[in-house]
Amino acid sequence: MMNLKVMMFMFVVSVVLQVAYGQHHIRCLPNERDALLQFKAAIVDDYDMLSSWTTPDCCQWEGILCNNLTAHIIRLDLHGEVHYEYFYRNGYYGVSRRYISGEIHMSLTELRHLQYFNLSFNDFRETNIPEFLGSLTNLRYLDLSSCHFSGQIPTQISSLTHLKYLNLADNYYLDGSIPREIGNLSRLEYLDLSGNSFEGYIPSQLGNLSNLHQLYLGEGIVTSDEWLSNLTSLTHLSFNSISNFNSSPSWLRTIAKLPKLRELSLSECGLSDHFLLSFNPSNFNFSTSLSVLSLFENSFTQPMIFQWVSNTTSNLVELDLSWNLLKGEDLKCV
Ligand SMILES: *[C@@H]1O[C@H](CO)[C@@H](O)[C@H](O)[C@H]1NC(C)=O
Ligand SMILES: *[C@@H]1O[C@H](CO)[C@@H](O)[C@H](O)[C@H]1NC(C)=O
Ligand SMILES: *[C@@H]1O[C@H](CO)[C@@H](O)[C@H](O)[C@H]1NC(C)=O
Ligand SMILES: *[C@@H]1O[C@H](CO)[C@@H](O)[C@H](O)[C@H]1NC(C)=O
Ligand SMILES: *[C@@H]1O[C@H](CO)[C@@H](O)[C@H](O)[C@H]1NC(C)=O
Ligand SMILES: *[C@@H]1O[C@H](CO)[C@@H](O)[C@H](O)[C@H]1NC(C)=O
Ligand SMILES: *[C@@H]1O[C@H](CO)[C@@H](O)[C@H](O)[C@H]1NC(C)=O
Repeated sequence: MMNLKVMMFMFVVSVVLQVAYGQHHIRCLPNERDALLQFKAAIVDDYDMLSSWTTPDCCQWEGILCNNLTAHIIRLDLHGEVHYEYFYRNGYYGVSRRYISGEIHMSLTELRHLQYFNLSFNDFRETNIPEFLGSLTNLRYLDLSSCHFSGQIPTQISSLTHLKYLNLADNYYLDGSIPREIGNLSRLEYLDLSGNSFEGYIPSQLGNLSNLHQLYLGEGIVTSDEWLSNLTSLTHLSFNSISNFNSSPSWLRTIAKLPKLRELSLSECGLSDHFLLSFNPSNFNFSTSLSVLSLFENSFTQPMIFQWVSNTTSNLVELDLSWNLLKGEDLKCV
């Protein structure tokens, strides 16, 4: 029990502080401000995204959120923007964009209380995902999607044991194999690694991520499907460009048994009529929870696929079969 005098004292101090600074005027900590200024100095900011980063109180800067009580920076939202409305200027067409580029300075490790870091849609072409991000161990959300990062995913990322959300999608140039250490991030609920250039096996350690709700994977080879059967909380699952899916029928059986799966995408996996029709609806069924099924860019030719889908699903709302070899128009039924 807290001593009454101590409580009174804390109350008085808090009232004095609120009067002195106004309720929302938490002052930025000098070491964290210095760290941000060092970060800014190494960034190329052609679109003035960090133009507000000049005043004394860094808690008021754009993209920054400080904790009410401790003043530590807890959120850093520096996402860029891409608008796919094409404009015409100086003789050519472009996409309207706003982003930062340059180098991500190590000074960010000073932000030890950071819980949310969003760097998506910026341009860090020809740089790797910094290994030092692994020291920001309070992170819950890390969004590095669409940043043009290249090279391998640093294994240091597995130190981020509080992560619930990890998005490395659409960097195009991330390569090597997916590190098995990602399987240590046991609190992950959302993992997106699609849209990259990974090679080799998808690590079975992903089967340890028992809290995953959404999993998006692309590029790679699958081995045993045993690990996937562990992920019973999955509601969203996507496998893109998995080259040997067609020769691994047990995968589809495992997927069909995921009890909460609502959205499934198996695109560019070279799936054939023969492959799907070999699953006889008399002993094969998707979970009744499945409402969106996407099978675009495969090799289906026979309209019988529609019958098969309707025989193996019971609550489907959306089916995407575009970019197949079915006769007639490309088909997307909603
Ligand atoms: C800041 O304080 C407000 C009001 O007391 C509260 O609603 C909010 O959740 C707090 N935010 C953080 C980040 O602590
Ligand atoms: C990061 O920013 C992008 C762009 O606004 C947004 O779509 C995305 O949801 C954000 N990520 C997180 C984890 O909030
Ligand atoms: C992370 O996983 C790897 C391999 O899956 C294991 O060898 C390592 O000990 C784990 N590291 C930590 C910090 O748990
Ligand atoms: C992770 O999964 C592997 C099998 O893929 C297993 O051998 C290992 O014990 C698991 N680690 C934890 C911490 O559950
Ligand atoms: C399934 O999850 C358990 C822990 O929940 C783990 O010990 C086991 O190794 C996992 N199996 C696979 C194949 O990943
Ligand atoms: C398919 O699912 C339905 C609804 O859950 C069920 O009635 C039926 O017996 C299942 N069929 C097979 C072959 O599993
Ligand atoms: C779908 O079910 C109908 C009625 O049971 C059956 O006649 C047909 O052969 C089935 N088609 C496929 C492709 O499973």
